[in-house]
Amino acid sequence: MSGSDIRAVSLALSGANIESFNTNGQVAVTGRGREITQEDIDRVHEAARAVSISMDREILHVIPRSYTVDDQKGIRNPLHMTGVRLECGVHIITGSVSTVQNMFKCVTRAGYKVERSYLGILGCARTVLTNDERDLGCLLIDLGGGTTDFMIFSESEPVFTSAIPAGGSQITGDISIMLSIPVDAAEHLKRDSGAAWTDAIDPDEMVIVPGFGAREPVELERRKLVSIIQPRVEEIFEMVNERIEKNGLKELVKAGVILTGGASLIPHIDDCARSVFGVPVRIGSPATVQGLDPAYHSPAFSAAVGIALLEAERAGFTAEPGPRKRQKKSRQGSFSLVKWIKEKFF
Ligand SMILES: Nc1ncnc2c1ncn2[C@@H]1O[C@H](COP(=O)(O)OP(=O)(O)O)[C@@H](O)[C@H]1O
Ligand SMILES: [Mg+2]
Repeated sequence: MSGSDIRAVSLALSGANIESFNTNGQVAVTGRGREITQEDIDRVHEAARAVSISMDREILHVIPRSYTVDDQKGIRNPLHMTGVRLECGVHIITGSVSTVQNMFKCVTRAGYKVERSYLGILGCARTVLTNDERDLGCLLIDLGGGTTDFMIFSESEPVFTSAIPAGGSQITGDISIMLSIPVDAAEHLKRDSGAAWTDAIDPDEMVIVPGFGAREPVELERRKLVSIIQPRVEEIFEMVNERIEKNGLKELVKAGVILTGGASLIPHIDDCARSVFGVPVRIGSPATVQGLDPAYHSPAFSAAVGIALLEAERAGFTAEPGPRKRQKKSRQGSFSLVKWIKEKFF
């Protein structure tokens, strides 16, 4: 659309092979006067990532959660503080080596250079979560095609990342099988007339199930269609809920659940999520990102928009006020982030 020639990409990874754990690293502060320098911080990050993981897995992200200087805990930024011992608690996300390699291969073969990779849901988090939600604690769910990724934030940073191998494609598959129609017709029906909460649907409302081959189009109660979708969506949410309860993390979800990703466009999916999780639920989309073309306001673009923002911040550009207010200082003064993204990506 932009007419620009794109060669290098930042890749969004997702999938059932994603796992996470929390650990910490410790170093002695070596700087003059025991003042913590950036070098000490880099070293403590290195120390924290020196964990043994199995040969078939690789570390995708090491996210610092908080620092301890001597006995003072819960420090967000220890730079220039004085101390003898610096400790850092980190959240580590790993993926399967072969799955990640195959993703890289796909994109490389399509003629692009993979410059960096991110877990897609980190992009979603950057796009849709408010500072209050991150501080208080929330559950972010990215409902994609083949996978549903989710992440729990507490005290601003991720504490748990995982994924379920089911998403919108399974819903389409169910419709195709139950109504004996081709997959692409099922996909259309889902997008045009689907919903995830039967109680919200007028019992008299009818939809047309498209015909194919010798089969004529037929009328169907919309509620029947919805009663195919709802159980699958419920099942996905129940799997997520079970996993966070099993890990004793449910109580961290104080600010509620935020749904995003293409499959969060199914009407009333928030009602379904509310009934499973028993907490407030909202849909998150890039619509809150200022200056973004409305064509990209769909929740299906949350990950891509977020990764563009993360890349821009990495390059040193300050974001215009968006949902996330805490921003890094720009090295380039007033250069517009949105302008930069538009030039680079769209
Ligand atoms: N309007 C819509 N209504 C219902 N489902 C939708 C809609 N738009 C996209 N989807 C579903 O979203 C899924 C893809 O989500 P997306 O986040 O784009 O994919 P991924 O992150 O897996 O690449 C598909 O299963 C698709 O059917
Ligand atoms: Mg997605």
